[in-house]
Amino acid sequence: MSMEVKKKVEEIISQMTLEEKAAQMIQVPVAMVGMEQAKEWARRGVGSFLHALGDDARELQKVAVNESRLKIPVVFGIDAIHGHGLNRNATIFPSQLSMASTWDRDLVEKIGHATATEVATDGLHWTFSPVLCLGRDPRWGRISETFGEDKYLSGELGASMIKGYQGDDLSADDSILACAKHFIAYGEATGARDAYDTQITYRKIKDEFLPPFKKAVEAGCATFMTAYGSVDGTPLTADRKALHDILRDELKFDGFLITDWDNVNALIRRQKVCDNIGDASALAAKAGNDMIMCSTEFYEGIIEQVKSGKVDEAQLDEAVRHILTIKFRMGLFAKPDKKGVPGSIGCEAHRELALKAARESVTVLTNDGVLPVRKKKLRKVVVIGPNADDIRAQYGDWTYFTHPVPGKYTEPQRPYVTLLEGVRNSLEGSGIDVEYSYGCSVNGRSYYKGDYPDTEAFMKQVYEDNRLDNDGTKEMPYINEAASIARGADLIILALGDNYNQMGEYNDRAELRLSGMQEALIRILSTMKIPLITVLITSKPLAVPEVVRDSDAVICAFNGGMYGGQAVSEVIFGDFNPEGRLPISFPVVTGQVPVYYNQLPGWHEGRYVDCPAEPLFAFGEGLSYTWYEYSDIKFDADTKTVSVKVTNTGKVKGVETVQIYIDDVVSSVMTANKNLAGFAKVELASGESKTVSIKLDDDAFSVVLPDETRVIEPGKFIIMAGHSSKDEDLIRLAVEL
Ligand code: NOJ
Repeated sequence: MSMEVKKKVEEIISQMTLEEKAAQMIQVPVAMVGMEQAKEWARRGVGSFLHALGDDARELQKVAVNESRLKIPVVFGIDAIHGHGLNRNATIFPSQLSMASTWDRDLVEKIGHATATEVATDGLHWTFSPVLCLGRDPRWGRISETFGEDKYLSGELGASMIKGYQGDDLSADDSILACAKHFIAYGEATGARDAYDTQITYRKIKDEFLPPFKKAVEAGCATFMTAYGSVDGTPLTADRKALHDILRDELKFDGFLITDWDNVNALIRRQKVCDNIGDASALAAKAGNDMIMCSTEFYEGIIEQVKSGKVDEAQLDEAVRHILTIKFRMGLFAKPDKKGVPGSIGCEAHRELALKAARESVTVLTNDGVLPVRKKKLRKVVVIGPNADDIRAQYGDWTYFTHPVPGKYTEPQRPYVTLLEGVRNSLEGSGIDVEYSYGCSVNGRSYYKGDYPDTEAFMKQVYEDNRLDNDGTKEMPYINEAASIARGADLIILALGDNYNQMGEYNDRAELRLSGMQEALIRILSTMKIPLITVLITSKPLAVPEVVRDSDAVICAFNGGMYGGQAVSEVIFGDFNPEGRLPISFPVVTGQVPVYYNQLPGWHEGRYVDCPAEPLFAFGEGLSYTWYEYSDIKFDADTKTVSVKVTNTGKVKGVETVQIYIDDVVSSVMTANKNLAGFAKVELASGESKTVSIKLDDDAFSVVLPDETRVIEPGKFIIMAGHSSKDEDLIRLAVEL
């Protein structure tokens, strides 16, 4: 921070009343309180608003800078998670999990920059993104918001995204603040119940969950968000060890820290560690939270605590210092309205980028030879399934459908291309007949117990919605129609998955099988002996062994954004050679969870008597229309660089993601049999070989000891390189360090 900014910040703080400091620490949800109340807050000197768009934001900013005593500009936050999705005119990119399937740092940075440009053009300054929680239990509703299950991949892509959002200069017109969230170990809640307690130690946190956040700090991330949950009974909101000792002292974070939604009230109402707002406010402030999202009662609470001498006003000064410093670095005092880049919202260049991202994310999981489909042999193609023509399922979470800003839009807005439309585009002019049938519903409902008289009625509904032999017969006419349309077809493209009621906050799932009658639908279609390609349009890994059994090819599309449907169709018909790799493992059955690849080794092979140890699909997996061979693995210990020769042995050009894993053979604390330590994408023409060099992180060979320090223990390591995390895909080199 420059001396000049430091001086200006201290000058303002010296003029601020206690009330103004408390207001500066508050973030008010405009969509909840309405514009009139929001303006009152602006006059009082509030620090921030969230969930306001365009004109509303500009109007509130005017009030803040003209009608508040100190004229401190407000910073506006929004959940622009995969594009500025709460604005219906914006570019909607693939979900964060789909982005992770690209393993493409540069692409993710470009998506960050495009999103920043659109957000800034809408008059806003800050996105609550990226999510750096690890998605290790697919029952969790928020899996689609993560970069998947691996700390290294999450850290690399998270850092790229942050650079894309912020650029080199926070005051630039196309720069917005990033927010690394949710700090920390939020994805690890017991039973994958969103926002519940996490039963882990701080040693484990430092080893497995901190690394992506460390990279976020190194990338200059301006803000962090405190998680909802708790670690071993201590709410994160009140956890000074996490928020101060680790985040500030250890990681040297110098931005500002915001709580998640209503965290301060949750200390009273949900987590029950306080019984009044004064104590809760004191706890949150002392733990190191600088800005308080939504719990506006904090304003009175903290003022009362300072007046009664229970909280030192210096604590508030420190929080305000963090906030004002960022506001200065953003240039907000000189220019309270970001100009952005006029005309950039939903512009063609950004839509091209969305298509590129969708293409790179499509991951082919099985292929009995049906892919790529040769158009020549086709006369009739049928596209079937609940997610074939459902843009809401394709978009996934955090769009204007799932989180409409009240009074704004909820209807799908063109342009977008569903899978059905993509197939029609691909086959246009070919004379091939394309027919469509819905097939059955996803029936992805959020069942609220309060809607039913008792548990029995609740479970009866769940059962009936998911069993053909019960009341599910209401779906039979659709299934019959699909089968009759499929008759005589040369190819079935079937789109199954989940829908937006089955993802996001509050929407964790106990069951990862396909919901509704989808299993019945695929069973019936597969008996018709027509080549069948199943596309999973889903927010998360599902337990779908029967889909693998019944399909000639399985493609994972996750939530591909605006052009997800087009991208899948291009892969099906061979216009794009697939290059997606899974950032997360798929379980065979729900009870097999967790199946993430780098669990600590145990004694009994990791299997159940009724289920193998191996996942249905492993981390890093993904097929291409060509093959890659690995050889000549070398390691330069001085530069920590692995090099490996990769050859494209097939007939077409392709892009391989070279993955490097490390096994620390003997260590004083247990380590996984392999951990991802590097990756790079490489394009290879048919028959071409390239030597790929990948520099590993300094931390790649380290381990966190019980005293929570990270050290490198000398000894033997196995370095592995290859196509996926599966043993059979990797070549090995033993090294001594
Ligand atoms: C709660 C979510 O947990 C967080 O991720 C989000 O950014 C905030 N709400 C604001 O919408």
